[in-house]
Amino acid sequence: MNLPEKVTIIEVGPRDGLQNEKNQVPTDAKITFIKDLKNAGITEIELTSFVSPKWVPQMRDAKEVIDACLDDKRNFVLAPNRKGVERLYETDGKDVAVFVGVSSSFNKKNINKTTGESMADLKPILAELKQKGYFVRACISTSFYCPYDGKVDPKDVIALCTQFADFGVDELSVADTIGMANPLESYQLFNELQRQLGDRVLLTAHFHDTRGMALANIYACLQAGITRFDTSAGGLGGCPFAPGATGNVATEDVVFMLHQMGIGTGIDLKGLHKAIQGISEHVTRNIETKYYNLAEKKASHT
Ligand code: HMG
Ligand code: MG
Repeated sequence: MNLPEKVTIIEVGPRDGLQNEKNQVPTDAKITFIKDLKNAGITEIELTSFVSPKWVPQMRDAKEVIDACLDDKRNFVLAPNRKGVERLYETDGKDVAVFVGVSSSFNKKNINKTTGESMADLKPILAELKQKGYFVRACISTSFYCPYDGKVDPKDVIALCTQFADFGVDELSVADTIGMANPLESYQLFNELQRQLGDRVLLTAHFHDTRGMALANIYACLQAGITRFDTSAGGLGGCPFAPGATGNVATEDVVFMLHQMGIGTGIDLKGLHKAIQGISEHVTRNIETKYYNLAEKKASHT
């Protein structure tokens, strides 16, 4: 078995976890959630997004969240276009995440551009970000299946990832947006990405858990040499423009599995629990992960 000693968890709960939440979560509650996650040992996190408040109202307090939460750790802010990056320049944030779908149908629904149009727009923006010293992560949506077009060809995923590597990004977060990938597909894609791009960029896997296959997919990715995973505390998450998708794989379930296997994460499960309990008061979804089951508690609140 090919298993690492250590894995890096990139917490996406404050962004992917909350972007689809119907309740407008109070800004203070978001900030407390982020601080609790950091206290639990999270060192890389997606804080929020600079996207259109008309498209994703939940993220309209992005600047306040960033201003309250920046520290010397890696704090990603999502930005889909020039306007998002200009808003980031008005903060002290230094870590940016751009996002593009392999499937143009999905990309159109998500950011109102074809994949080719997004890449043409991003090319000079990424060059500028790198020249200014930003850490750049590129999130690759619909890397396995598209909610509109079905199965995605791995060759198209590798071609898009290679184009991003050529644009100089530091990290690729390769996503199963609607949680359809199986462990064999996950192994094959990440093994090939690792072989072709592993020495040029950090490779991260981002699984949604719609069909309960995310932990198995992570195990398959470990076998392919992947040591970075996006996860969301409480299993919250989902893209508003990817119908049928549920939350991301739960941070606590991944951390628990890895610790049981003797793989370090630097994350404290009790501290994570505190963060999840805090945010559970503000979300409509019952948090029913394998490690903590807060469903009963939630039922008594509603
Ligand atoms: P558009 O309507 O084509 O934008 O939307 P536009 O350029 O025509 O501008 C229209 C208005 O939006 C203008 O304002 C702009 O100023 C404003 P108005 O004049 O009407 O008042 N605008 C912005 N405002 C704030 N921030 C910006 C921005 N850009 C334009 N950055 C746009 C295009 C990209 C803005 C829109 O489609 C959008 O915001 N999309 C975001 C979608 C989103 O957040 N999706 C979820 C994140 S991705 C994800 O979850 C997947 C991931 O988890 C991986 C996976 O699982 O697959 C990462
Ligand atoms: Mg996602």
